[in-house]
Amino acid sequence: MGKCNACGEWNTFVEEVIQREEKSGPGAVLSAHRASSPVNISDITYDHEARIIIPDQELNRVLGGGLVPGSLVLIGGEPGIGKSTLMLQTALQCIVQKVLYISGEESEQQLRMRAERLGIRNENCFILTETNTQAIFQHLEKVKPSIIIADSVQTLQTDNIESSAGSVSQIKECAAEMQKYSKITSTPVFLIGHITKDGSLAGPKILEHMVDTVLQFEGDRNYGYRILRSLKNRFGSTSELGIYEMNDTGLREVTNPSEILLSQRDEQVSGTAIAAMMEGQRPMLIETQALVSSAVYGTPQRSTTGFDGRRLNMLLAVLEKRSGFRLGHKDVFLNIAGGIRVEDPAIDLAVVAAVLSSNQDFPIGSKCCFAAEVGLSGEIRPINHIEQRISEADKLGFERIFISKYNTKNLALKRFSIQINPVGKIEEVYRKLFG
Ligand code: TYD
Ligand code: MG
Repeated sequence: MGKCNACGEWNTFVEEVIQREEKSGPGAVLSAHRASSPVNISDITYDHEARIIIPDQELNRVLGGGLVPGSLVLIGGEPGIGKSTLMLQTALQCIVQKVLYISGEESEQQLRMRAERLGIRNENCFILTETNTQAIFQHLEKVKPSIIIADSVQTLQTDNIESSAGSVSQIKECAAEMQKYSKITSTPVFLIGHITKDGSLAGPKILEHMVDTVLQFEGDRNYGYRILRSLKNRFGSTSELGIYEMNDTGLREVTNPSEILLSQRDEQVSGTAIAAMMEGQRPMLIETQALVSSAVYGTPQRSTTGFDGRRLNMLLAVLEKRSGFRLGHKDVFLNIAGGIRVEDPAIDLAVVAAVLSSNQDFPIGSKCCFAAEVGLSGEIRPINHIEQRISEADKLGFERIFISKYNTKNLALKRFSIQINPVGKIEEVYRKLFG
C-alpha cells in the first residue's frame, strides 16, 4: 500500500512478517503453559548478591549497582558516539568473566586493532563475527560465556523470519530469541542499537518495552565528553548517570565531574556563573557562560547550547518585567560548559547571574556558586537535595553559595564552612553581587 488511509502520508507502511505457530488455538496455549503453576510470592527466593560487578564503575552505577544475571540491556545511541568502544572496553576489562563480543559490524581484524588502541590485554574475551542467530546460539552452546554483547541488534538476522536484516520484525524476533537465551541460561546480554537523530528510523525504540534496561549513550561529538543515561531500568533508578571522556586510547571514566565542568582559568571574566546541580543522585558543579551584547541587527538573537532556549527566553522576560533589567534589545548567548545538556531547574539562578554579570560587565567571583529555581514572578524558588549540593560546593572549596530562602528550613547552616546566602528575589541577588 503506498498511501496510508489514516494519516494520508505516502510510503510510511512498514512490512512486518507474522510468524505462524505450528499449533494454534486455545488447546495449544493450555498445553504449553502446563509446566508453570502459581506460587505464593513470599515463597519465592532470590539471591541478594547475584549481581555481577563489572570493572567499569560508571556502567555499574548506571545499571543500578552491577549487572543482573539474565537481564537484557539495550544500549542506544547515534552512530559514531562510541557504543562499540564502550562495550569492547568493558569486555576487555572483565578479567574474571568470560565475555563473548558478537559483531556484525566490524571484522575480527578491525576489532583486534581497536583492542590494541584501547591497550588492554585479556585472555578471557572472545570475538564472534556472525549475524545469524541460529549460528550464534550454536557457538554459545560451546563457548558458554558469562556475558554476551551483540553489536548491533540491527545486523542480527534469524531464519525464522523471512524479511531482511534490520527490518522491524527481524529486530523484534532476534531480540526475543536473545532474551529467551538470556533468561534460560541466566546470562546477561547487552544489545547495541543505533538510534538516528530524528528518531524515525529508530529500530531499537520498538525494543524498549521488552528489554529490562535501556541505556542511552550521548554527547556532543565536538566535545570529548560522553554521558551514559538510564532511560528505563527494572533493577535500579533511572536518574543515574555515567560520565566518560573519549581519549585516543578509549573512554576514561570521569569520577569527579565537577573538575572537568569548571573551566580552569586564572583571571576573572564577566558572564560566567557556577551552578550546583544534580544529575541523578550525584551533585556536580557546572559553569554557565552568558554573553549579552547590543543587537547589531534589528531582531535580537537568543541562542543556547546545552540549555532549553525557551527557558532562557522565560528567564529574560522575568528579568525584564519583574526586575526592570532592559534586555529586550540585547543579543543573549548562553552556553553550558563541556557540551553537557542540563535539565535540572536549579541551574536557573546561575543562568540569571551569568546574564546579569555579562550585562553589567562585572565578574562574579570564581568562588561563588548558585542553586535555585527562578519563578515567573521573579521569586527564587527552593529545590531538592539542597544539602548535597551545598556540601559538594563546600568540598570543592567554594566560599559562597546563593540558595532560596525557602530552602533554609531544617538546614544545619553551621555544619558547612561555606557562606550561605539565602535570597528571595532577583534584586537581592543583584544587590549582593554587584551592589
Ligand atoms: P564507535 O565506538 O565506533 O561508535 P559507535 O559504535 O557508537 O558507532 O566510536 C567511534 C568513534 O570513537 C570514532 O569517531 C573514533 C573514536 N575513538 C576515539 O576517539 N578513541 C578511541 O580510543 C577509539 C577506539 C575510538
Ligand atoms: Mg559501532
